[in-house]
Amino acid sequence: METKVAIIKDINKDIEYLKEAADIIYNGGVVAFPTETVYGLGANALNDEAVEKIFNAKGRPQDNPLIVHVSSKNINNLVKDVPEIAQKLINRFWPGPLTIILNKKEIIPNRTSANLDTIGIRMPNDKIALKLIELSGCPIAAPSANISGRPSPTEVERCVEDLCGRIDYILGGERSNVGVESTIVDCTVDPPMVLRPGGVTLEMLQEVCEDIKIDKAIQGKPDKNLKPKAPGMKYRHYAPKAKLKIIKGNKQKTIEKINEIVQNYIENQKEVAILSTDELCSYFNKGKVISLGSEKNLYDVARNLFESLRECDDLNVDIILCQAFDEKGVGLAIMNRLNKAAGFDILEV
Ligand code: TXA
Ligand code: MG
Repeated sequence: METKVAIIKDINKDIEYLKEAADIIYNGGVVAFPTETVYGLGANALNDEAVEKIFNAKGRPQDNPLIVHVSSKNINNLVKDVPEIAQKLINRFWPGPLTIILNKKEIIPNRTSANLDTIGIRMPNDKIALKLIELSGCPIAAPSANISGRPSPTEVERCVEDLCGRIDYILGGERSNVGVESTIVDCTVDPPMVLRPGGVTLEMLQEVCEDIKIDKAIQGKPDKNLKPKAPGMKYRHYAPKAKLKIIKGNKQKTIEKINEIVQNYIENQKEVAILSTDELCSYFNKGKVISLGSEKNLYDVARNLFESLRECDDLNVDIILCQAFDEKGVGLAIMNRLNKAAGFDILEV
């Protein structure tokens, strides 16, 4: 399949590309597009066959439902009801990195919801994404635009790398500003429950909903008896090709341990990459050191996380060592993604 790639620099001047991509969506094709969290791989959410193409292009397990993207806060045509608390969350955080789970109407095909009675919906905060949805004239089902299991793409080049030849169209925009996927909140239960931490932090949600709960299965190591409520959270995910190991401890011990492991690998003729904050980078003088940004602003770390994992793949290293982060604010989402990318290989020092 030939994939057209178009970069949008100015939404007004480049409107023809957007119209072209919207026509493809309307006619049942598949288009990768930017959002503020990560790039998405979109198709008409109401068209069963179009949605099937997303699963095939990504190699995505059939039991993993898709998030439906909308360009307006009025979602009455898609869901049975919008509870008061869901409406409050929508008013406060849309457009933005928050997905809300609600009971779906019949109009949503089972393929989109992976046979669940519910769907996840979000209104992205990205001009290109919103315009694409508007011009398509339909809600757009979109998972992240990567081959299943790989780190999500935050730059158009990574969508091209994974999906060129597998989909109809790739729309490029700016680098994704948030860098980790949306927070998912289940509003079919009372009180609501966070199923995936993301760009909207738990602390921000608590300002609107004091008694919000968090799915225990998404914190810490996977537990056979605890099944995550978002089907996708049970898969190994976000993973670079190299083995990733997380080093967790105070600053001094983390530095010492990383240097010790690096030394061991180098003595065995292996290539090592180190992911760490600006504050720690200068303490490592062997291995390939990649900065994730300053520890003072974890949003920078979130923004750089997936791209850095992919850079490690480009460097063809044998192992990646990464420091742990405080699970506060967006740190909770960062650690959730890192834990999964590492297959929970965490060394406490
Ligand atoms: O930021 C994002 O949410 C990005 C961009 C493209 O919008 N999308 C994204 O989609 O991360 P994806 O497919 O990579 O992750 C969707 C997650 C999966 O873990 C899935 O199981 C969960 O959302 N999910 C979707 N619908 C659900 C539902 N009805 N109930 C529970 N979990 C659901
Ligand atoms: Mg994904």
